[in-house]
Amino acid sequence: MLDSKVAKLINEQVAKEFYSAYLYLDFSIFYEQQGLDGFANWYMIQAQEERDHAMLFLKYLQLNGEKVTLEAIDKPDKALETLMDPLKAGFEHEQYVTSLINDIYAAAYDVKDFRTMQFLDWFVKEQLEEEKNADDMIKKMELFGNDSKGLYSLDSEYAARVYTAPSLTL
Ligand code: FEO
Repeated sequence: MLDSKVAKLINEQVAKEFYSAYLYLDFSIFYEQQGLDGFANWYMIQAQEERDHAMLFLKYLQLNGEKVTLEAIDKPDKALETLMDPLKAGFEHEQYVTSLINDIYAAAYDVKDFRTMQFLDWFVKEQLEEEKNADDMIKKMELFGNDSKGLYSLDSEYAARVYTAPSLTL
C-alpha cells in the first residue's frame, strides 16, 4: 500500500496523461487539416506515448495493491489558429506536466517512499526530453517555418518519426 497522498496524486496523473494524449491528438487533427501530414504524424505518435505514460501510472498503482479510479478527461482547450500555436501550447503543457511529476516526487520524498521515487526517476528524465523536443520544435519553426521550402522540409522530418514503446516496463 502507498501513502494516501502519493496514491491520490498518481491516480490523478493517470487522467492527466490521458489528457496529454487528447491534447496531442487535437494538435494532430489541426495539422492534418492544414495539410501538414508530418506534423500530424509527430503528434499522433506523441499521443500514443502519453497513453503509454498513463498506463504506466495505472499499472504502478495496481502493482502496489491500490485501487485505480478513472477520473474525467478534460476537453482539449487550447486555441489553435497559427501553425506555431500547438508548438507553444505543447511546450507550456510539458512544463506543467514536469511540475506535476515533481509534486508526486516531493510527496513520495516526504514519506520516504523510495520505491515510488525510483519509479518516478524515469519520468523525471523523460520530462527533460519532452521539454527539449517541444522547445526544439518551436526554434525550428521560428527558423524555417516562414519559408514554404523550409516548412516542407520540417514536415518531412516529422513524417519520419516512428513509435517506440517506453523503455520503462512494469
Ligand atoms: Fe507524459 Fe509528455 O509527458
